[in-house]
Amino acid sequence: METRTDEIADGIYRISTMLSEVAPPAGFTMNQFLVDAEEPLLFHCGPRQMFPLVSEAVERILPVERLRWITFGHVESDECGSMNEWLAAAPRSEVAHGAIGVDVSLNDLADRPPRVLQDGEVLDLGGKRVRHLDTPHVPHNWEARVLFEETTGTLLGGDLGSQLGGSAPLADGDVVGPAMAAEDMFLATSLTPATGPTIRRLAELEPRTLAIMHGSSYSGDCAAALEALAAGYDERLERARA
Ligand SMILES: [Fe+2]
Ligand SMILES: [Fe+2]
Repeated sequence: METRTDEIADGIYRISTMLSEVAPPAGFTMNQFLVDAEEPLLFHCGPRQMFPLVSEAVERILPVERLRWITFGHVESDECGSMNEWLAAAPRSEVAHGAIGVDVSLNDLADRPPRVLQDGEVLDLGGKRVRHLDTPHVPHNWEARVLFEETTGTLLGGDLGSQLGGSAPLADGDVVGPAMAAEDMFLATSLTPATGPTIRRLAELEPRTLAIMHGSSYSGDCAAALEALAAGYDERLERARA
């Protein structure tokens, strides 16, 4: 298994491992994102078993022990399975998450006390700024959240927009068609009346890049893509109710 690193926006690196045995023949990527700043931040830890691969990839960009913030969207093993391995490898690092994630899971699961972020709170990383946004149940899990890096306009949206395949680090073609095809295969998203409106609020940020956890990241018209994703989920909710 090979883990590659690519800069997808200024100082934002996609760390990607293709799992060819998942959903063949397209395969499925596991991606983490490293925000290089005075206080470097990792978004998605990766599964515990992939920690050797992912930490070696981070080390190609900066010393792992410099990591200051360990972050992820929600509590699942691809998001945070290796959280405690990172806390051990980077002695000054802290997990940062929303209040629900911390109260429900992370106070117990994390080896050091997590930092609680309020909805809309910005972490100034020194050269980069990430805004924490609560997105309960979008794409799934009560504690779900995303981060928006303001200097590059990069939405660290986790599973949002995920696709099969996607070995290209950054694409600008149709992301919505492949994302909805993956949704129809995996049924991963919590379909609620809040799904579409929550995604539309993210479109209002007018991101310039979508950093996507599975598949290629996206640098086309991100607001339009998020609006189309929201419409796709609204349609599926309507169909489910009919
Ligand atoms: Fe997930
Ligand atoms: Fe995921």
